[in-house]
Amino acid sequence: MTSNDFIKKGSNFLKMNNIKSHIIDAELILSNVSGLLREKFVINSELKLDSNQINAFNKLILKRGMSKEPLAYLFKKKEFWSNDLNVNKNVLIPRPETEILVDALARYYKNQKPFILDIGTGSGCIIISLLQELKQSKAIAIDISNKALKIALENSKINNTFDRIKFINSSIDNFIGFKFDLVVCNPPYIARHQLKNLDDSIKYFEPKIALDGGNDGLDVIRKVIYKSKKILKINGMLALEIGNGQYSKVSQILKLNKFKEKFFVKDYKDNIRCIFSKLDHY
Ligand SMILES: C[S@@+](CC[C@H](N)C(=O)[O-])C[C@H]1O[C@@H](n2cnc3c(N)ncnc32)[C@H](O)[C@@H]1O
Repeated sequence: MTSNDFIKKGSNFLKMNNIKSHIIDAELILSNVSGLLREKFVINSELKLDSNQINAFNKLILKRGMSKEPLAYLFKKKEFWSNDLNVNKNVLIPRPETEILVDALARYYKNQKPFILDIGTGSGCIIISLLQELKQSKAIAIDISNKALKIALENSKINNTFDRIKFINSSIDNFIGFKFDLVVCNPPYIARHQLKNLDDSIKYFEPKIALDGGNDGLDVIRKVIYKSKKILKINGMLALEIGNGQYSKVSQILKLNKFKEKFFVKDYKDNIRCIFSKLDHY
């Protein structure tokens, strides 16, 4: 059998098991077990696999199809901002939407060196990418999950930002003692009653603590906004990723807490997904 035959066979099995991204998943699994870029199979469909690669391919296809476990957890890796990050079930799989947040901040702070707090760092994806762009910046990254912090620390070592980030196991509620130029946060923002409607590959695998935003999805966002009032330096910025459809409510909470919106950024589907605001001191 050639690489093309394996992709067809794997993809058919995934399709039968209701995996929407069945073709790309089969290609990515083949790429993972063979160590070859996906593009290689597209150009050359006649590549041969050895018996170890075939076994590994069949095993991953079976697991993906039967359990719906996300590929990132099966591979223990996820690419974010061109970095290969380690991930496991203790951290949210970094999403492309979050790269929009990083991109906006990297542009805004170009050639500056803000002191940054990353709240709910998870895999560390936001703060590691930001510090790679802002070479003079230093940061603190907190998370309520110690297991997530372990992964974030590993990722910062692999991606050469370890010496500029201090990782602290803390909830935002209890965090005090520093003032920041920038507070950034991608909080858990799914309303609790909606958790059951998430895709199986999310609800059965990703950490609930990274998803559950309380009754209306805004519990952690409120805490972050409230705390930011106290820990931002004058002219400091609060950068929030929010859920689809949460803009007007979050906007209201910001206003109530004397924040003035500076700008927002939309995602690929034209939804407002990141809000950037500063305290209105006047
Ligand atoms: C949506 S995930 C974001 C992870 C990562 N920053 C990203 O963008 O992929 C939210 C993270 O916030 C953490 N978290 C939840 N409640 C928290 C709290 N009260 N204080 C600090 N971190 C919290 C979770 O453990 C999780 O890692």
